[in-house]
Amino acid sequence: MTEPSAARPIGVFDSGIGGLSVLQALRHELPHEDFVYFADSGNAPYGDAKGEVFVQQRTLAIARWLRSRHDIKALVVACNTATAAAVEQLRADLPDLPAIGVEPALKPAAACSQTHHVGVLATRGTVDSMRFQRLLQAHSAHTHFAVQACDGLARAIEQSTEEPLPATESAERIRALCAHYAGALGRFGHKTNEMDTLVLGCTHYVFAKDELRALVGPDVQILDTGAAVARQTRRILAQDGELADVQVEVPGGIRLYTTGQLVALQSAAERWLQLPAESCEALNNA
Ligand code: DGL
Repeated sequence: MTEPSAARPIGVFDSGIGGLSVLQALRHELPHEDFVYFADSGNAPYGDAKGEVFVQQRTLAIARWLRSRHDIKALVVACNTATAAAVEQLRADLPDLPAIGVEPALKPAAACSQTHHVGVLATRGTVDSMRFQRLLQAHSAHTHFAVQACDGLARAIEQSTEEPLPATESAERIRALCAHYAGALGRFGHKTNEMDTLVLGCTHYVFAKDELRALVGPDVQILDTGAAVARQTRRILAQDGELADVQVEVPGGIRLYTTGQLVALQSAAERWLQLPAESCEALNNA
């Protein structure tokens, strides 16, 4: 028997564990949906030096795998770098699969900054992309954006869940990188020319929010896109008549796959989403 269309799962994909920050928001917004999460940790990071063609190939291969193995009804590309490099090609190649991308929250930042000075942290792949440059241009009329590519930061966040790096050493590395890159942006605060808003333009950086908060101070707004992407996913599914049946009282299930270390995904899923180790599986050749 084939699965009723709306009962199919939603696919969520990232270069690694960063997209779990988007999955958190999706689960909150759509508690009745089933999710299949794909962490391409074996190939992470995408954003430092992998290049656009590689990211496009991985994005398409993963979308096809999720569709053939799990018959997903939509795909959330929970990765700014992959969205910038590949979402247009993905939509062209798989036109019948709704694809929801993420992009750094420049628009909300421009709307809410009082000093009109905003800091943006993202991967080099995102910062150098045409898509990001267009976004920047579209919102720079009344706002000054200081933009910093953060080589090594997504990798350090991945490593914080891997074995055998000692936890304290990896936490120290994340703190040092955050201090370096937030410092390079300039001064945060509420005086003229100070940045009162910080945009996290990479889904991994949400997991370094505490470190960044300690650096920029308690009154600076830190924006990510998880909740907005979750609302957009709901809108698209509703419009297509594909929302799961909310009359069914059981919460949706979550299955997670990684091309990297199984223990790393298990520890991240446990730490950030309170999911059991059995919900995770390692893939050798997806
Ligand atoms: N989490 C990804 C993003 O939002 C990419 C991190 C990486 O692999 O470089 O950009």
